[in-house]
Amino acid sequence: MDIINVAVDGPAGAGKSTVSKRAAAYFGYIYVDTGALYRAVGLNALRLGINTRDAERVAETLKDVKVSLGFKNGEQRVFLFDEDVSDEIRTPAASMAASDVSAVPAVRDFLFSLQKDIAKKNNCIMDGRDIGTVVLPDAKVKIFLTASPEKRAERRVKELREKGRDDSYEDVLKDIIERDHNDSHRAVAPLKQADDAVLVDTSDIDFEGSVNTVINIIKEKTR
Ligand code: DC
Repeated sequence: MDIINVAVDGPAGAGKSTVSKRAAAYFGYIYVDTGALYRAVGLNALRLGINTRDAERVAETLKDVKVSLGFKNGEQRVFLFDEDVSDEIRTPAASMAASDVSAVPAVRDFLFSLQKDIAKKNNCIMDGRDIGTVVLPDAKVKIFLTASPEKRAERRVKELREKGRDDSYEDVLKDIIERDHNDSHRAVAPLKQADDAVLVDTSDIDFEGSVNTVINIIKEKTR
């Protein structure tokens, strides 16, 4: 049977991970969050006390780093060396570090084969920024999931409130706009919609609506 790969790209906070997770569970595919890999490389650089904007120093860290993904009860975990850092990579500092290191070509090369390997062996929904354009250009299904920066900030603030955090809407919006700029203006693999990707704008659709839209696209394309 053919392996089915679904590429889901889009900006930070568009709901890629929550929507992809639900769609993956529906089809029985694994869900691969590639941002976690960039976050692990960023976290490693932070721990080493390196300026994450210094491309040369960041590239040097790759000589000794070990990053891997594991899947426990269908849930992805990310390991830095043998430590499960799945929670620690979610801090604002790790987010910014991930955005910085993801602009370094050596980092992208380093993570490329890891992502390719997983996709070759598994039916999966892989989310990121360059999955449909660079990592899996032949993916059977490509989706570009987006929403306005304001909507994304609104949703993120709600999520943070639920976790007991009180970050302001203004700060979260500023962070989203800054990361969008970084991700779409970098020289290598900038965030952009693949020509053959289906655009899903979730600004005016709720979560269940977004999940259904994505499931229907996958059904349609794999029929
Ligand atoms: O999806 P995320 O927010 O966890 O991603 C963290 C950072 O990694 C983000 O700034 C963009 C970058 N990234 C990337 O460049 N390519 C990917 N395939 C996934 C993430």
